[in-house]
Amino acid sequence: MENRDPLLLRVRLSGPLRGRCRVPGDKSISHRALLFAALCDGPVQIDGLGSGGDNASTARALRALGVSISLDADQALVEGVGVRGLREAARPIDCGNSGTSIRLLTGLVAGQPFTTSLEGDASLTRRPMRRLATPLRQMGARVEGRMPVDRPDEIYPPLVIEGGHLKGIRALLPVASAQLKSALVLAGLQADGPTEIVEPGLSRDHTERMLRHLGAPLFADPAARTVRVDPAGWNGRLHAAPMVVPGDLSSAAFVIVAALIVPGSDVTVEGVGLNPTRSGVIDALLAMGADLTVEITGQAMGEPFGTVRARAGRLRGTRIAGELALRSIDEVPALAMAAAVAEGETDLADLRELRVKESDRISALARELGRAGVGVKELPDGLRITGLAGTGTGPRAALAGGLVEPRHDHRIAMSGAILGLVADAETLIPTDEIGTSFPTFADVLRGLGAAL
Ligand code: S3P
Repeated sequence: MENRDPLLLRVRLSGPLRGRCRVPGDKSISHRALLFAALCDGPVQIDGLGSGGDNASTARALRALGVSISLDADQALVEGVGVRGLREAARPIDCGNSGTSIRLLTGLVAGQPFTTSLEGDASLTRRPMRRLATPLRQMGARVEGRMPVDRPDEIYPPLVIEGGHLKGIRALLPVASAQLKSALVLAGLQADGPTEIVEPGLSRDHTERMLRHLGAPLFADPAARTVRVDPAGWNGRLHAAPMVVPGDLSSAAFVIVAALIVPGSDVTVEGVGLNPTRSGVIDALLAMGADLTVEITGQAMGEPFGTVRARAGRLRGTRIAGELALRSIDEVPALAMAAAVAEGETDLADLRELRVKESDRISALARELGRAGVGVKELPDGLRITGLAGTGTGPRAALAGGLVEPRHDHRIAMSGAILGLVADAETLIPTDEIGTSFPTFADVLRGLGAAL
């Protein structure tokens, strides 16, 4: 059962998964913890930091901007330099595969009196940036990027940002996006006058919760999907206080879905973030009839966390659209695997943004489900999946194995792996990408008894 090939994870039909586990620190919150700690006055201790490649990209970028960070496993000590204390980087900053790093950093350096170049890997250099460049230019920054011949209306990395004197604006965002919202909040903190950001839907609100906790002049009105930053009267300081990052629900989603679909499983994930703007996956799985018990056990930096217990059983198809789709956007790859073995059809809609994540996740999921022999129809903004039925009890149609093609996308790799746990033949997954968000993925599942 052991994976002897360092590059390929081999997954086989698995017996029940059982036990308790933890997952690495939340990737979204870890990016923000590092960035906001760097802007505090003085040293900040962070516990539970995500250990994936994306968070490492943010740490590397901050070091390049003159911030001293010592990392030791899931702990970091960041020597905060204050909002005005960053230094010009000596060379272009590599943001790797991380969309959150490049977008939040762009907003941050837009207010700094120097020029910054931000670049990334093959996937990151296909992520749309005009949505961010436009409001930052209105605020007074110069933001230049690559303008591809096939998409003359778009801007892709590498980006060059000439920061400086910003003025506040009212920005109506074209898409609900926490990366975009957070970038504009960081720019707004450095601007003259108030900045108001209005989203078409409420995206995850980690930035609002954490920055308020640190004393930033930020006011959120979730009902109006509006965030207002007003630096007038603010002393420009964020309180340097220890930070604790909860476990990543997006990583836990793969463990939870694995437990729901492998017959006889009973797994509890501890210490996982349960921010309601982020926990749509729980509601979507409950709508599928999943046997889940969720308990909030505490709060850190305004972020609730707790335990999720998942027991295998029958799942039925459902419709995931609108605000539920937005609240589970990163968990769609895991949800699609639950849909693959559910009874009946699952409609995943209003997910056009999934086409511009680390990969085009709609076409990637259609490809991978098709490879495994699951009925799937690709739609412009989602997928219709015809489940093979019979999880937990009774027979179901056979699932094929084969080679998963993640194409620079960690979540496509992990979704292929969990489907492999219920496939009748071996599934092979290149492991390179998994480290982006969940480097301990295989160890956690093995610890629960998975055959991989
Ligand atoms: C994130 C926001 C989301 C999400 C991404 C992380 C964040 O992206 O998909 O994985 O940390 O702010 P968008 O802002 O593009 O919706």
